[in-house]
Amino acid sequence: MRKKIVAGNWKMNNDREEAFKLTSEVTHMVEDEVKGNTEVVIIPPFVHISSTRKLVEGIAHLHLGAQNCHEEKGGAYTGEISAGMLQSVGCKYVIVGHSERREFFGEDHEVLSKKVDAVLASDMIPIFCCGEKLDSREDGTQNEVVAQQVEKSLFHLSETQIPAVVIAYEPVWAIGTGKTASAEQAQEMHAFIRKLIAEKYNQDTADKVSILYGGSVKPGNAGELFAQEDIDGGLIGGASLKSRDFTDIIKAI
Ligand code: 13P
Repeated sequence: MRKKIVAGNWKMNNDREEAFKLTSEVTHMVEDEVKGNTEVVIIPPFVHISSTRKLVEGIAHLHLGAQNCHEEKGGAYTGEISAGMLQSVGCKYVIVGHSERREFFGEDHEVLSKKVDAVLASDMIPIFCCGEKLDSREDGTQNEVVAQQVEKSLFHLSETQIPAVVIAYEPVWAIGTGKTASAEQAQEMHAFIRKLIAEKYNQDTADKVSILYGGSVKPGNAGELFAQEDIDGGLIGGASLKSRDFTDIIKAI
């Protein structure tokens, strides 16, 4: 059975005190209520990983992630953080290829494929993001765009490696806009991504890959999205900054 995941990507938000308060509140809820094959992931800015680790350590079903990493193991890359460093401070997941990294930091298919390799080599799980911009959705080329992103950065992986990757479909036009893809649009794209994996590898392998939806997920729409056959959870931005909203979204899974 595929893992269900609700991950909160804080992006560049929260000071130390806010990070501590939010993590404590989420930790209590997960400790009391999350069971089975569901995992909750808190993905704070790098500087809060070590302090939040003290709160989440030992809590079943709760893990830490990072929002990015460098593709090299180490060296003269001022300001960068390697996958090995993240693993050493307790991260289990690393987001790779968020649309904000693609857009504002020029990350392309090639560098993202190296980042995926770096995360896997450090025994962590990449949360690989893909998703089309509004113009592609409007001209109907969203499947080609997403296929390219997935094929160029993931399809060099072996059949045993690919199930260790989590994919997050985040249509760019739905991120931070309050405009969510309909459950039907999201399900259609998730099924398409799974089909791509089945064609490249096989159905059994494709059925093992968790595919999350991201883009204006809120307590009010999470239930309908998560009920879709190929939607295995969510990557949550804005709503992960409010403990009440985030915990309500966790309940929806
Ligand atoms: P919002 O939930 O704020 O739309 O952000 C989604 C996202 O980018 C998560 O990575």
